[in-house]
Amino acid sequence: MAIELIKTTDYAAMSRRAADVIATCLESDPACVIGLATGSTPIGLYDCLVEDCEAGKISFAEATTFNLDEYRGLPGTHDQSYRYFMDKHLFDRVDVRKEFTSVPDGADPDADAACARYERAIEEAGGIDIQLLGIGHNGHIGFNEPADSFPVETHLVELTESTINANSRLFEDIADVPREAYTMGIGTIMKARMILLVASGSDKAQIVRDTLYGPVTPRVPASVLQLHPNVVVVVDEEAGSLCG
Ligand code: GLP
Repeated sequence: MAIELIKTTDYAAMSRRAADVIATCLESDPACVIGLATGSTPIGLYDCLVEDCEAGKISFAEATTFNLDEYRGLPGTHDQSYRYFMDKHLFDRVDVRKEFTSVPDGADPDADAACARYERAIEEAGGIDIQLLGIGHNGHIGFNEPADSFPVETHLVELTESTINANSRLFEDIADVPREAYTMGIGTIMKARMILLVASGSDKAQIVRDTLYGPVTPRVPASVLQLHPNVVVVVDEEAGSLCG
């Protein structure tokens, strides 16, 4: 299997170890194309990258970034949009050129146009060198929810009740959680030359196990990573507790 599993002790160690993988990419190719993710899991990793940048170890000055997904209907100025999240946790704290950071345009109501534009922009940048992923409890990556088939390109999704519930913790009212999103497809993600998945906490242990060792099925979208030639999974002790 082409998946390398790195077990660390706790959230801080997971964050540091995963940040090192991205830092190494930036060091070897300062103009690399990095796919980024939201959710609470990567926040510590972003803090580590900010530290590295402040210490002069790495620079984002020549890098290009593409985020996985965005809520449909939320402009980038909304404090629950993923653009806002990225500015707050990473982009406003490092030397990245904002115009070289992309998040799907949730404010564009024309789903087909917004998604096609995003897919094309990734291709024009030369494709993604390293794609960071978190994982949902149902195995979703980006917002690719369990389905009957693997969606290929960036597309419009209806979020499942379980994802809406999980993400409602960040909104004042569950009624405020958008029901739709634009997300890179499984095909978009699989085209990245390297994939880095991070998971933390005992509530992710079962899905990490299913992802790595279960059948490859669109019912567990992340299981498709078993077919990718270059995947690193960094977990803390709890998330890795059911793996060997
Ligand atoms: C959201 C994001 C995913 C993320 C997942 C898990 O639904 N769209 O990209 O991986 O949540 O989030 P967390 O890391 O907070 O558990």
